[in-house]
Amino acid sequence: MTRLVVISNRVTVPRSRQKPQAGGLAVAISGALAEYGGIWFGWDGKTCHRPPTTVHTVENGNIVYATTPLTQAEHGQYYAGFSNEVLWPVCHFMLGSMDFWPEYRAGYEATNERFADLLLPLLQGDELIWVHDYHLVPMARALRERGVQRPIGFFLHIPFPSFGLVRAMPGWRSWLRALAEYDLIGLQTPEDRRALETSLVHGLGARFVEGGVELEGHHVRTTAQPVGVEVDELAGAAARSSGTRRVQRLVQSLGPRDLIIGAERLDYSKGLPQRFDAYESLLAHHRERHGKTVFMQIASPSRENIQEYETLRELLESKAGHINGVYADFDWVPTRYMNKTFARESLLGFFRTARVGFVTPLRDGMNLVAKEFVAAQAPDDPGALVLSELAGAAAELESAILVNPFDTDGMGAALEQALSMPQEERRERWQHMIEVLRDNDLSAWRHRYLHDLEQAAADRRGHPRHPEGREPRDSSATFHLTPEDASRRLPGPAGERFVELWQDAGASVELYAPRGRDLQTPHARGEFYVGARGSATLRCAGSELPCEAGDLIFVPAGTAHHFVDHTDDFAVWVVFVPGAN
Ligand code: F6P
Repeated sequence: MTRLVVISNRVTVPRSRQKPQAGGLAVAISGALAEYGGIWFGWDGKTCHRPPTTVHTVENGNIVYATTPLTQAEHGQYYAGFSNEVLWPVCHFMLGSMDFWPEYRAGYEATNERFADLLLPLLQGDELIWVHDYHLVPMARALRERGVQRPIGFFLHIPFPSFGLVRAMPGWRSWLRALAEYDLIGLQTPEDRRALETSLVHGLGARFVEGGVELEGHHVRTTAQPVGVEVDELAGAAARSSGTRRVQRLVQSLGPRDLIIGAERLDYSKGLPQRFDAYESLLAHHRERHGKTVFMQIASPSRENIQEYETLRELLESKAGHINGVYADFDWVPTRYMNKTFARESLLGFFRTARVGFVTPLRDGMNLVAKEFVAAQAPDDPGALVLSELAGAAAELESAILVNPFDTDGMGAALEQALSMPQEERRERWQHMIEVLRDNDLSAWRHRYLHDLEQAAADRRGHPRHPEGREPRDSSATFHLTPEDASRRLPGPAGERFVELWQDAGASVELYAPRGRDLQTPHARGEFYVGARGSATLRCAGSELPCEAGDLIFVPAGTAHHFVDHTDDFAVWVVFVPGAN
């Protein structure tokens, strides 16, 4: 099996004195490395005065952990600055929180270059290189400049912003160019994938090709692969944890009261103030819940030297104090708010104890807490999940109670629905969610991604492979649509973007005219092409489908397809259908 070289900002070195890491990235990477073996390279979580010229390595089984501290300047500019005060808010659609300084960007580039210098001597020449997350976008470029020719994959664990937001970030062109150096870019959802491709096409003049985009002769493959969880392992750990003293103490302290639980890093993208307001809305509208529910929010400390995080911590303390001040009684405290980190096993036991999981980020790439909550439930009496529809996980966990995280009264009503949900309905919803999680678990994620990376490697060597079972399906169909219908339903000239279409059905449309010889739309959800001008042939799974102006072609999720032999004036409108197929 090909060895992996994983590069991520943080590295979890076993048996070190590191604090337990919050976030799903560490778990996802550990699993992949345990299976494939190789190197895990990145920051050791410490700071120093002068940049070290060698890496610290620890060997454990088939994995070499190679780490370096950051200098204090690197910590300020690369980590806290460009990664977390520029990219983090932009990617989470919160431009108001962006704080850009030119030295942040310079430090970001320079730290990636230093990491590449340190990593180079460790490479043997035949590994798969897999870079993770927004801190390390320039890594492929830095490695290429140092002569590394083999394929390099990247996975973004957070959302990819729309092109309008990307453009607000000073230096966006160079950042996008650095992304386009990768051979395979993985994203959490089809929506993120489309946003990335749109930025590369509209921002850099790339063109859509089969499986991704092409920029100046370089094929950038893209793939949407939601990160999953190890369902059975989590379920077992949650069941064991339920019997521990710590979890039993929680159970005793609750008595007959229902527990609503939230647990994540203390971060402004997680929607915590709105969550407290939602709980207050529940108490305000449902007197009968007083004394009968407890909301426990665990917010583990994170990025504490950034002002926004400090301000948020103070705000949450005041909101928790306010709710308790207004509603508490001599024998009941409605809110338990903790700004501390708990071991994963304890959290899983807490989740199993809860009647409601309350996970309401304002924007989130995936949100593994939601998935862990589901995996931790007891099958015969599972809790209900209230989940933000703006978390990547919502695309899979459709049987949760989905909420708008900005609508505090709506979330309060969702809490009431969850608390009063009959056991049978809870079981049904849970059954559906756990099946989805099993189909898409953590090992499926890494196998799919690494399979695609190996294919990119084969393509790079000029030997494309099409493994069994991955052939495109042929199920496209044509419906006739008159040009009058098209123009009535699709107002706006070709080239205009994101025009609402059939709003009642919740669909959205992107209009554009392809500039190259063919147009590839490899996205995972169902799509329609509406022939706007000219004619072309749609090639799909070995068959060819002639289409011309006025045709409406439905292409189901997951098919590989592209237009060939089109006339010079050929243009299509592409209609994306959320949730189709
Ligand atoms: O998931 C996003 C992410 O930034 C990960 O890269 C990281 O492991 C996690 O959140 C925690 O953030 P930080 O490393 O800044 O504490």
